[in-house]
Amino acid sequence: MKALIPAAGHGTRFLPVTRVIPKEMLPVGAKPAIQLIAEEALAAGAEEVVIVISPDKDIIRRYFEGDSGLAPHIRWACQTEQLGLGHAVLQGADILAGEKEPVLVLLGDALVSGRAPSADMVAISRQTDGASVVGLEEVPVEKVSRYGIVKGAPYGIAAVDHAFDGRVWKLDDMVEKPSPESAPSRMAIAGRYLLDPAIFRFLACQKPGHGGEIQLTDAIRNLMSQKNVYGYRYPGRRHDIGNPAGYRETLEAFAC
Ligand code: G1P
Repeated sequence: MKALIPAAGHGTRFLPVTRVIPKEMLPVGAKPAIQLIAEEALAAGAEEVVIVISPDKDIIRRYFEGDSGLAPHIRWACQTEQLGLGHAVLQGADILAGEKEPVLVLLGDALVSGRAPSADMVAISRQTDGASVVGLEEVPVEKVSRYGIVKGAPYGIAAVDHAFDGRVWKLDDMVEKPSPESAPSRMAIAGRYLLDPAIFRFLACQKPGHGGEIQLTDAIRNLMSQKNVYGYRYPGRRHDIGNPAGYRETLEAFAC
């Protein structure tokens, strides 16, 4: 299995420090946040991790090619224009589009404390004929407009692991950043995806959506017309390191 970490965003919610230090390089203990994310991917069974950076974030590459211990597992892709999350993921297509197995996508600004979601998502995919799985989190109705929101219904999978009980959903729609009135649920897409490699075909012809950006959510919605997509309301807690308050919370959670 291979993984991809999009880490090319501008970090505007964490200025001015992100003018010189990418948010993904902020330390959590002695490691930059993105190393913890790469380690989650490797622990879930990824043999290789493609990191998508922008030209001004080469410090991330220099870090991994130094003495991180992970360099043999990392490959690089570059996003030169910030056209959205879907566009960032598409930059990995040259390396990943020919994969046979689903590709794990871990957002570079989302750390999860507690039980890591990625390995569970791989296990759920194996029990659903290699289907795509999207990590989910329930959010209050006033926050649905910050997330991709899914529509679906609870789905019982063979109970090889009771940790999944009541946490797996079969999805039939998703919408990026809906208004509270139009949101199909309060289940938000939460930073982790395990995606059928066909996603790259859909991304390649994906038109701009919410905010004029090429949205990964829209491409997964199109993928759903051909392939099953499941959701996993994972038990760990997601932390957004892309803003000062989220970063402070991350440090507290990882200090324990
Ligand atoms: C992205 C995705 C969104 C998802 C969110 C959190 O939004 O587009 O669907 O819910 O990450 O994982 P962003 O936070 O980049 O605006």
